[in-house]
Amino acid sequence: MIEAKDAALITQSLEIASERGGDLTDAVYARLFQDRPEFEALFVMDTDGAVRGEMLSRVFDAILDFIGERAYAHNLIHAEASNHDGYNVPRKDFALFFRTVAQTVRDASGGTWSTQTDDAWSRLLEEIDLFIIANA
Ligand code: HEM
Repeated sequence: MIEAKDAALITQSLEIASERGGDLTDAVYARLFQDRPEFEALFVMDTDGAVRGEMLSRVFDAILDFIGERAYAHNLIHAEASNHDGYNVPRKDFALFFRTVAQTVRDASGGTWSTQTDDAWSRLLEEIDLFIIANA
C-alpha cells in the first residue's frame, strides 16, 4: 500500500512538474531512448507521436489510480504488460518506464523535489516493480 502521505507528495510532484515543465512527453521519451536506444524503433509507425502521448497519459493516470483509489491500475498494468510482450518489451523494461517517468518528473521539479518526495517515489516504484514481477 502507498500511504496517504506518500500519495500526496507524488501527486504534488506531478502537478509541480507539469506546471514547470509543461508537456513532459518529449522529455520522457528522450530519456527512455537515451537509456534504451533500441526502443526508439518500436515507435517508428507513430509518426505524429499520438501513441507515445497516449501511452504516457495512461501511465500518469495509472500512477494516480495506483496511489489512490486503485480502481483499475492493477488490471491495466497486468493487461498492458502482457500486450507489450507482443511488442517485445520484456517485463523489466516495462517496469523501467515508470522509473523513466519518475526521473523526468524529478528533473522538471527542480529544487522542489525533496528527500521526502524522492522516498515516496522510491516506495511507489518498488511496489510497482513487485506487482509486475509477481502478477503481470
Ligand atoms: C519501456 C517500456 C515500454 C515500451 C518500450 C513500450 C512500447 C510501446 C509501443 C511500441 C506501443 C505502440 C504499439 C502499437 O500500437 O503498435 C505502445 C503502446 C501502448 N503502451 Fe507501451 N511501452 C512501454 C511501457 C508501457 C507501460 C509501463 C504502460 C503502462 C500502462 C504502457 C501502456 C501502453 C498503452 C496503453 C499503449 C497503447 C497506446 C495507444 O495506442 O493509444 N506502455 N507501447
